[in-house]
Formats: sequence, C-alpha cells, structure tokens
Amino acid sequence: MRDLFEAEQGLALPIVPGAVLLRGFAGDQAPRLRAALDGVLAASPWRHMITPGGFRMSVAMTNCGPLGWVSDRTGYRYDAIDPVAGKSWPAMPQAFRELASEAANAAGFAGFEPDACLVNRYEPGARLSLHQDRDERDYGHPIVSVSLGLPAVLLFGGLQRKDKSMRLPLVHGDVVVWGGPARLNHHGILPLKDGEHPSTGRCRINLTFRKAG
Ligand code: SIN
Ligand code: FE2
Repeated sequence: MRDLFEAEQGLALPIVPGAVLLRGFAGDQAPRLRAALDGVLAASPWRHMITPGGFRMSVAMTNCGPLGWVSDRTGYRYDAIDPVAGKSWPAMPQAFRELASEAANAAGFAGFEPDACLVNRYEPGARLSLHQDRDERDYGHPIVSVSLGLPAVLLFGGLQRKDKSMRLPLVHGDVVVWGGPARLNHHGILPLKDGEHPSTGRCRINLTFRKAG
C-alpha cells in the first residue's frame, strides 16, 4: 500500500513563507552521505556538548567544514578548531556540499555555499528544545537540514518564542530548508521514539548546513 510519505516523495511542501519541506529529497543519496559521515567521525568523533548553563546536551554532535558550532560554559559560537581533536574540523565531503546546495536551490535559494555542517545524533529520548539559529554572521543565508534514519517530530514555530508551533513528522531522506522571512523562526525536535533503521541503526542523524562566517 502506498502510504502518505511515499505519495509525497519529491514534493516541496510549504511550511510557512520561506520554509519548505522537501519530502525524501536526500533519500537516494543516503548511502553516500552515511559513508562520507564515517570519514568525518574518524577525525572528529561524537561528543555531548555542555550548554552555557552547565547541562550536558542529550543530542551527540560533531561538525565538518571550515567552521563548527560549539557550545561550552562560555557560550555558543562557531570555531575553526574542534576542541576535542585539537585541530581543524574535517573537510566537508563533496556529497554533503552538493546535496545542501541542490536542496537550497530546490527551495528557491540559489547559490547556497555552506561553510559549516553540524551533525546531530539523536538516540531514543534525545531532544532539542525550541531555539533560534542566530550564531551566524549573516541571516541572508538559508539553513538546510537533512534527516537520516529514525523518524522524528520537528517543532516549527514563529519568530516569537511564545508563537504556536507546528508539529512536522520527518522521515529518512527528508530535507527542510528555511530562510528569508523564516530564517529566525524557532524550531526544535521532540524526544526521539525508540526504533531501528537500516541506514543508521537505533538513532536519527541530522545534518544542518549553514553559511556561518
Ligand atoms: C537543529 O536545529 O540544529 C537541528 C534540527 C534537527 O535535528 O532537525
Ligand atoms: Fe537549530
């Protein structure tokens, strides 16, 4: 039976002006992305960062590309150096860069060239509370977010924290792009449900591409 997600393959589903869900856009690239990610992880392994408030994040993270997003007791920032490896973040794989700019283009943001890819790993129960992405220098560039593995629910809210959020179920291969009038919209991920996925095992992996510097 064709389910809803299958029927939506390849569709660009508008979320709010400036934000779009590209259903299944990365699906056929997933094996390539997974293989490239193993190379990234060999150089800069998963770690649980500490928030400025002193909490250990439930999401494990790493980065690739010229700049990496980091959090510690002193705050959030982009840094060219991986504080765990003590050297530059690994290069952004070509498969990552191509997918990110193709997805941005499909969403109406031509010429996107990310310099930062944050990689998030959600194990069952891991979550990301509602936040804005505002550590980047220029909000004129969009954000491209790729989902691999277990499904998750994306909360997509408004410019004000108190604005009502939509709940968008995301599955393996989905790509969400937001920019323009939606660039500073709040978003988050509900606690991940347990499961097993052929691509990732018992987790969801998210690649978030940004032009940060
Ligand atoms: C993020 O907001 O940085 C990641 C969102 C996601 O995991 O889909
Ligand atoms: Fe974010």
